Amino acid sequence: MVQYLITNIGMLATPLGTSARRGAEQGRIRILRDAWILVEDGKIAGIGTGDPPLLPGRRVDAGGKLVTPGLVDAHTHLIFGGWRQNELGLKLHGVSYLEILARGGGILSTVKSTREASEDELLDKARAALEEMLALGVTTVEAKSGYGLDQETELKQLRVIHRLNETQPVDLAATFLGAHALPTEYQNDREAYLRLLCETVIPRVAEEGLAEFCDVFCETGVFTAEESRRILEAGKRHGLIPKIHADEIDPIGGSLLTKEVGAISAEHLIVCPTEGIAAMAEAGTVACCLPATSFYLGSTYAPVRDMIRAGVPVALASDFNPGSCPSLNLQFVMNLGCLRYKMTPEEVLTAVTLNGAAAINRADSIGSLEPGKKADLVIWDAPDLDYICYRMGSNLAEIVIKDGITERGWTRGLLN
Ligand code: NIG
Ligand code: FE
Repeated sequence: MVQYLITNIGMLATPLGTSARRGAEQGRIRILRDAWILVEDGKIAGIGTGDPPLLPGRRVDAGGKLVTPGLVDAHTHLIFGGWRQNELGLKLHGVSYLEILARGGGILSTVKSTREASEDELLDKARAALEEMLALGVTTVEAKSGYGLDQETELKQLRVIHRLNETQPVDLAATFLGAHALPTEYQNDREAYLRLLCETVIPRVAEEGLAEFCDVFCETGVFTAEESRRILEAGKRHGLIPKIHADEIDPIGGSLLTKEVGAISAEHLIVCPTEGIAAMAEAGTVACCLPATSFYLGSTYAPVRDMIRAGVPVALASDFNPGSCPSLNLQFVMNLGCLRYKMTPEEVLTAVTLNGAAAINRADSIGSLEPGKKADLVIWDAPDLDYICYRMGSNLAEIVIKDGITERGWTRGLLN
């Protein structure tokens, strides 16, 4: 058994529980001062304050700093070929996101690069992104397919996620997003593409165990609410849990579908209407809000305060992708959560830990610091929780512990 203590924790801040926190509960977190954590075989075995138990063996001295659960990034498009820096100029000249897509750019240009990339190229590129994310304090990441739009490339993306899960420390949750755009070769036959997804690709993805979730981009010019329902229902028949990109640009009914299909999460929700918020509250759907995307698109911000008031659990995630959010920095997302959504630091912490975990069906094993959960945690170069929400643009994660292990910590002599 590998056992060690993390001692001298100035502030331990964590939500509590094994399910999403909603309403006032989202801001009710546990704060302990002068705390310690006992880690055993990659899991948390005990937490307390004051004098730690007298144990032989190793200790990590947290230096009186802040410790939180490892961050959970519950929405990324991690696996893609190429980048799209050329679209920045178009944006600055006023060409909109949906116009770029309608001209065959946007998602469709990343589809071309992703089809051209080999599985190993995609793997190396995503691995580098994950290394950066881990250093920023992110210990679990959801990753979507959706830049293949054909069976071969969609499966290639999902296989990359599985290979990454086996070869690097960050845990990944895989989502099938074959309905991310209508591929060029089906421009005149939507029905054929929908049938391909529902009758061929979804069954294959499920059969090979390549994804846990099925997502769809429900948006003007992409997939209608009715088409989205059909795809998510097909996913459900094959055991894939529904997620939905809803109300990002136009409110065409995406958030209303959450209740109907029993979606575990709805994503974006920038222009979510009141009825959509009510549907999510009733269904217990996690609202996965992506403020860095609003920032990058220069759009408005999701009505997060209304969601919290209505009892919708809110998660915050990066949406890392080459088009609408070329940033993977969840610390920046936390800043925006406070500054743009007007969330409190306590609500933000829950949003990037326990509620993120709930959005990917993992709230029983990660997302809070409690005995029995994974020892995924961050020692921050910060005295308290307010500090990491307030400072901007620096990486404040000092030591990131994943499944009880930190290469960085060991080598810097922090264990003694
Ligand atoms: O979440 N909204 C759809 N998909 C991504 C953008 C993908 C892209 O532009 O490449 C998003 O914003
Ligand atoms: Fe997205």
